[in-house]
Order: sequence, then structure tokens, then C-alpha cells
Amino acid sequence: MGLEQFDLTGKTAVVTGSSKGLGETAATALAKAGADVAICGRKRPDIDRVVGKIKDLGRDCAGFELEVTSRQTVQKGADEILDHFGKIDILVNNAGTNHRVPVLEYPEEEWDRVLNTNLKGYYLVTQALVPQMIERGWGKVINISSIFGSVALANQLAYASSKGGVNQMTKVMAIEWAQKGVRVNAIAPTYFETEMVKQISEDKERFNFINERTPMGRWGKLEELEGIVIFLASPASDFITGQRILIDGGWTIW
Ligand SMILES: NC(=O)c1ccc[n+]([C@@H]2O[C@H](COP(=O)([O-])OP(=O)(O)OC[C@H]3O[C@@H](n4cnc5c(N)ncnc54)[C@H](OP(=O)(O)O)[C@@H]3O)[C@@H](O)[C@H]2O)c1
Repeated sequence: MGLEQFDLTGKTAVVTGSSKGLGETAATALAKAGADVAICGRKRPDIDRVVGKIKDLGRDCAGFELEVTSRQTVQKGADEILDHFGKIDILVNNAGTNHRVPVLEYPEEEWDRVLNTNLKGYYLVTQALVPQMIERGWGKVINISSIFGSVALANQLAYASSKGGVNQMTKVMAIEWAQKGVRVNAIAPTYFETEMVKQISEDKERFNFINERTPMGRWGKLEELEGIVIFLASPASDFITGQRILIDGGWTIW
């Protein structure tokens, strides 16, 4: 086995929520490994910025406004993506959101918004794109989970519930497609500095609590996600399915 097993030349990928943050990092990593990439988000200027960056790497790249919470918008986006690229080999379900308040104060509309984005969105996009992977007998689905799919902190009611759901969803999908060539795995990160956690990274006390809670003593660096994304998207991981890889500086050890 050589490094060619990590080569994504000729593969095409969709990353939801890739107009910034972890999704942008995942999309860039896939492009660096040779894949053509569909960039998805809701705000055109953010999408276009990432498309420009990936085109500079010499890959085919196009941007799509893809609201993940509605079957109608997901189907429209998936049709446009397949029209452009012809096929999709790699799907990274990543678009996500959070709302942090105690359980007894948690508003129903925020519960619905978080679950619809983080859990229903993954199911809808997967349903739209996996059939053509099964038809061709090869595909990789990577579901971005979180340490909070496995462990908990206060104020994470809907978020932790959604990520626990993502972990279980990953296993069900993996079993159903295990003999159809489609591998499904989850990546469960700790804190990485993005817009989603800006309030926390700007609060010195909360920022330091995370450093102290982590055996490695720090937050993740976005570039530290690249290797695992490429590995799970590539033929190098063809015999791995239904797994959840924690990338957490040791947070979940204790
Ligand atoms: N950052 C962390 O510390 C951390 C840790 C563990 C797991 N994660 C997970 O990593 C993923 C990305 O998080 P992030 O930190 O990169 O967040 P982020 O910087 O806030 O980016 C979120 C992305 O998702 C898109 N998005 C949000 N709601 C959407 C919707 N309803 N439909 C379509 N797109 C939507 C956003 O697009 P718009 O901006 O256009 O809305 C944006 O592109 C999430 O699943 C999150 O749970 C993050």
C-alpha cells in the first residue's frame, strides 16, 4: 500500500456548510488531495470566497446555496450539483448550528432549528446523494459529529442530542450500505476556533476552561482536521465503516 491510496484525483465531493469554518477546512483538504469540490452554504459572498480559493488549487469547484433543513431546497441543490459534476463520490455532512441555554429555558423553536439543521439536514442530504453512489458501487459519507455526541456539558441540550443522533445515524447508514460499496464514518471534534464558537473563544474564562479540561492543554487547530478527512474520504479507509473518530486532544479520555 502506498500513498496513492490517499489520492482523490478524479473524485468529486460535496461538503455542506463549507462556506466557512470546519467545512471550509474539509473542502480545502479534499481539494489538496485531488478532488473536485462543491462548496455549499447560505451566503453567496462566503461561498464565492471559498470557491475562488479552491479554484486556485487547480480543481474544478462550484458554489451552491444549499439550505439543508428542507427536502425541497436539498433536492434542488443536489440536482444542480449533479448537473455540474456528473457524479458525487464523497459527501461530508457538516452544516451545523447551536443554541446554548439551560434545559428548562430551552425554547422549542431553537430545539427545532438545531435538530433540523444538525440531524434532519444530514439525513436529507444523504438521501439525495447516496443513491448514485450505490449505483456506481463506491462512495464515502463523513458525518461531522462532536465530542458532545459522547460526553456532555451544561447548556448543550439540543446540540448534544443532535450529535448523539449523528453517531447513531452513522451506524445505521453504515450497516445498510456495507455491501454496496458506500462507507459511512463520523468525525467527532473538540473545540476549534470558528464562528460557531466565537462567543466562547472570546470569553477568556471559558476559553481557558477548555484548555484546562483538555489533556493536550489547548483547542484544535483547523489544519489538524485535514488528515482524517482525507483518510476517511479515500480508498485508504475502504475497510472502515460505522466508526466515530474523536479528534479531541484527549478530552474524552477522562
Ligand atoms: N467549531 C467547533 O468547535 C466544532 C466542534 C465540534 C463539532 N463542530 C461541528 O462542525 C460543523 C461545522 O461547524 P463550524 O464550527 O465550522 O460552524 P460555522 O463556522 O458556524 O459554519 C457553519 C456552516 O454551516 C452552514 N449552515 C448553518 N446552518 C445551515 C443550514 N440550515 N443550511 C445550510 N447551511 C447551514 C453555515 O452557512 P451560513 O453561514 O451561510 O449559514 C456555515 O457554512 C458543525 O456540524 C459543528 O457542530 C464544530
